[in-house]
Amino acid sequence: MAQEIGQRKLNEAVNAASDQLSKAVKNNEPIHVISHLDADGLAAAGIIGSALWRLDANLHMRVQQWMDEKIVEEIQTINPSLTVFTDMGAGYLDVLCTHLPKHRIIVLDHHQKKGEAGENILNVNPHEHGFDGSKEISGAGVAYLVARALDAGNKDLAGLAVVGALGDQQDKFEKRSLGGLNMGIVKDAETSGVLEASIDLQFFGRETRPIHKALAYTTSPFIPEISGEEDKSLGLLLNLDIKPKIGDKWRALRDLSPEEKRTLCSALSDHLVAKGIPEHVLTLIGRVYTLVNEEPWTPLRDAREFSVLLNSTGRMGRPSIGVAIAFGDRGSAIDEASAILKNYRRTITLNMNWLMEKPDRITEMRSIYLVQGEGFVDEKMIGTLASILSTTLPNLNKPIIAYATLSGEASVKVSARTLATMTQKGLNLGKIMGLAAEKFGGEGGGHDIAAGAQIPIESVDDFVELVDEIIYKKVKAISAKG
Ligand code: C5P
Ligand code: C5P
Ligand code: ZN
Repeated sequence: MAQEIGQRKLNEAVNAASDQLSKAVKNNEPIHVISHLDADGLAAAGIIGSALWRLDANLHMRVQQWMDEKIVEEIQTINPSLTVFTDMGAGYLDVLCTHLPKHRIIVLDHHQKKGEAGENILNVNPHEHGFDGSKEISGAGVAYLVARALDAGNKDLAGLAVVGALGDQQDKFEKRSLGGLNMGIVKDAETSGVLEASIDLQFFGRETRPIHKALAYTTSPFIPEISGEEDKSLGLLLNLDIKPKIGDKWRALRDLSPEEKRTLCSALSDHLVAKGIPEHVLTLIGRVYTLVNEEPWTPLRDAREFSVLLNSTGRMGRPSIGVAIAFGDRGSAIDEASAILKNYRRTITLNMNWLMEKPDRITEMRSIYLVQGEGFVDEKMIGTLASILSTTLPNLNKPIIAYATLSGEASVKVSARTLATMTQKGLNLGKIMGLAAEKFGGEGGGHDIAAGAQIPIESVDDFVELVDEIIYKKVKAISAKG
C-alpha cells in the first residue's frame, strides 16, 4: 500500500515536471540542462536532452562535477527561464533556494536531499516517496520517467537509463540484476526492442574483444593480476587450454562453448579465493544487458561497457564527447571516446600501481581506510579509484575515504565509499560527508554507499579526523544495538 502511494506521488511529481517542460517548450523559452559528469549524469543528459530536442526545444546543456557558487552565479547572470538539474541538485536545495529564489528550477535527481525545495523548485526524487535512490533508480532513470511522460515515443530512451543505472552500480539485486523502479525501465527498454537481458559471464568487452583483453579490461570486480594485465590473462587462457584464437582470428567470450566458459569461471573463482576475496566469485556470473540495436564490435552494445565509456569521457575531462554519444552520435565521437577509454584504463592502472607502491598512500585508521591521492591522482579520477578499491581491498570492513588535491585551487576533492553490509546497518556516508564538510566550510553529500565532498585544503587533516570519529561512534552504536 505504502509503495502504491509512493509510486503515485512519484508519478505526480514526474508529470508536474513534464508539464512545466512542455509549457516552456511551447513558449520557446530557453531551457538550461545541467548534469553530473559521471556515466549516470551523462546518460541523464542524453535522455532529457534528446526528449527536449525531439520537441524542438530551445535547449542549452552543460556538465559539471559538482554544484558550487560559480554555477549559481552563472544562472543568475544568464537568467534562463527554466533550469533543469539532472543527477545532481538534491544535495543543494538550500543553496538553490537561498541564492536563486526567483528562478524556476526542476531537479531530476536520486541523491539524498539537503534542505527543502522552496516554491521555485520542483524536486523529483525517489527518496521523497519511499524509494531508495541509491539502489532502485538512477539520475538517468528519473530523467527517463520525465522523458516518457513528455512523450510515450521516448520509450526507446529506456536503454540509456539502464546504462545510467549500471554506471551507478545499481545492479545490486540477485545475480547482478537491476531491481526496484529500474525493473520497469528495463521492461520498457525490452518492449521497445532496444535491450535484451540474459545471464552470462560478466567480462568487459564480452561482445567485442579478444578474451584475454576482456579479462584484462574488467575492473569490476578488480581481479588482482588479471585486471589491467593482458599478458597474464593470455597466459591464464593458455594454461587452461582455451584457444584464444582460431586461425588468425581472435575469439570473443561469446564464442566460447559452455564447457570452456565453465573451465574459465572455475579457474577465476579459485584465483579470487587464493587472493583472499572469495566474495567476488559470485560477481563473475550475472545479468548481462545487451543493447541490441548498437553495432556489434562497439563498446556500446554491452550496457555496462557503454556506462564505462561514458564515465571515461567525464572523468578524463571530455564530457562533451560523452554527451554526444548519449545523444545518439555514432560517427567520429565513437572513435574519440574509444581513445579516451583507453587512456582512462591506462590511468586507472597507473594510479592503482602508484597507490600500492608505498604503504602510506593507503592507511588504516580507527574506523576508515584513508587514501591520499596527493598531487598524483586527478580529482576527477579519485571517485573511480575509491569505487575500485571498495570492491578490491581484502576483507574491507571499514569505509574508504579518498582525496585528491584540486589543481590550481586551495581545496581537495573527497570521495567516500562503503559496502552494502555497512549501509544496511545504517551507515550513511552521504549524511556524514555533508555534516563533516559543513564544519569546515565545504560541501558534501551523495548516497549512503557512495558520497563525496569538497573542502578547504588546510582543513583536510581535521576533516579526516572528524569523519573517522563520526564513523567510529556510528559503528559503535550499531554494534551496541546488535
Ligand atoms: O552522482 P551519482 O549518483 O551518479 O554517482 C554515484 C557514484 O558512486 C558513481 O560514480 C558510482 O560508480 C559510485 N558508486 C560506487 N559504489 C556503489 C554505488 C555507486 O562506487 N556501490
Ligand atoms: O565524486 P564521487 O564519484 O566520489 O561522488 C560520489 C557521489 O557523491 C556522487 O553521487 C556525487 O554526486 C555525490 N557527491 C555529492 N556532493 C558532493 C560530492 C559528491 O552529492 N559535494
Ligand atoms: Zn547518479
